[in-house]
Amino acid sequence: MKRVAILISGGGSNMVRLVETMQAEGYAAPVLVASNDPAAGGLEKARALGVPVAAVDHRPFGKDRAGFEAELLKPILAAEPDVLCLAGFMRVLTPEFVTRFAGRMLNIHPSLLPKYPGLHTHQRAIDAGDSEAGCTVHEVTPVLDDGPILGQGRVPVLPGDNSATLAARVLTVEHRLYPAVLRRYVAGDRDPVLI
Ligand code: GRF
Repeated sequence: MKRVAILISGGGSNMVRLVETMQAEGYAAPVLVASNDPAAGGLEKARALGVPVAAVDHRPFGKDRAGFEAELLKPILAAEPDVLCLAGFMRVLTPEFVTRFAGRMLNIHPSLLPKYPGLHTHQRAIDAGDSEAGCTVHEVTPVLDDGPILGQGRVPVLPGDNSATLAARVLTVEHRLYPAVLRRYVAGDRDPVLI
């Protein structure tokens, strides 16, 4: 069974859905949840789900990304994952780190890539007057929020939406999309999931 490690930075709601579906359906094994923030709320949720956790605070490393990643790699490599899922992970990874996991690292991004890579995606969609928004699961490559698209989920942008109401609507689709993509991905299926 494929072993899946998940990287988080915050509440980990996407991580919870991935872990719960793996545990319920057995399509893969959640072997580690790691965070760059020891106070990330998702770590407690992972512990409650019985998944090993690790945290490496990125702040003491300052701009030394490689130094931070060298520390973060220790629990990740110890868990011997086949697949790495970024789920609300808010640190930019170096090309060296990404290359090490080339072809087996996924990310979920809250926009319909290639539109709106980077931050503040919902506000940008609203400001642009888009009628639709959504989320994308993609393979991670050294170019930020780029890489082969493995799935997308769409939601309407409604009159009166602000970034919080739109983010909440997109998040409910993220929670369906990521497990649907990971289930196929670990089975070697790369056909995009469109919901
Ligand atoms: C989500 O919008 C996700 O798309 C983004 O981080 C946000 C929080 O995710 N990458 P989570 O609740 O920590 O999974």
